[in-house]
Amino acid sequence: MMRLDKYLCETGFGTRSQVKALLKKGLVSVNGELEKRPERKVDEHADTVSCGGKDAVYREFTYLMLYKPAGVLTARSDRRERTVFDLIPVDLRRDLSPVGRLDRDTEGLLLLTDDGALSHHLLSPRHHVEKVYFARVQGTLREADILRFQEGLDIGDERMTLPAKLEIQKSGAQSEAFVTLHEGRYHQVKRMFQALGCEVLYLRRLSMGSLALDESLAPGEWRALSEEEISLLKKEEGLRDGTDEAN
Ligand code: URA
Repeated sequence: MMRLDKYLCETGFGTRSQVKALLKKGLVSVNGELEKRPERKVDEHADTVSCGGKDAVYREFTYLMLYKPAGVLTARSDRRERTVFDLIPVDLRRDLSPVGRLDRDTEGLLLLTDDGALSHHLLSPRHHVEKVYFARVQGTLREADILRFQEGLDIGDERMTLPAKLEIQKSGAQSEAFVTLHEGRYHQVKRMFQALGCEVLYLRRLSMGSLALDESLAPGEWRALSEEEISLLKKEEGLRDGTDEAN
């Protein structure tokens, strides 16, 4: 059993003060009956809670998508700089970890979860999960660069990069492109462009596997993943989803 306000926080409806406001407004029901008391105890395995017409489904694990803004570190805490955890309500931080890192100046999709198995699958080099980025670079991108990305580049590591896709959107003194990678080495996109003689000026991650950055989020905003997004990610990773255990 847990307090209703905590339950709503943990199912992704906002911070403690935000969910208290939702309760006050009469937007929350428990087992079909209006409930305004934040201290009301609910059984996370038996009660049906809904908020603003949406079911608040309790999950063993938490999955959040954050639109990481530039200028924050992908770290738990830092003495001087803001980190991605400073953007997540205290109630939700619990045991969350970011799935991979984005550089301080990179924006975009960052998944945070306490589901270690999913995180491991998404990050494991063996699984080659696709990541798509948008990049603006200083320098001209040419057709020949598409082939160089495809063939793999020497970025100073022991191994060449795996085949990657470069889709040029704009070519000039500054160029723009989508990049699709199947691995995640340190500063990989920046080092790949560097190998072509271009400097990355702006970088945003758009997707990771089936999970795409929600375009309605502004930088710094987050939301809980939907049931569908969670099941798709799990299916993609060949993990058994709790919802289809019978299969
Ligand atoms: N590649 C980079 O160079 N930086 C990132 O943050 C992510 C991918």
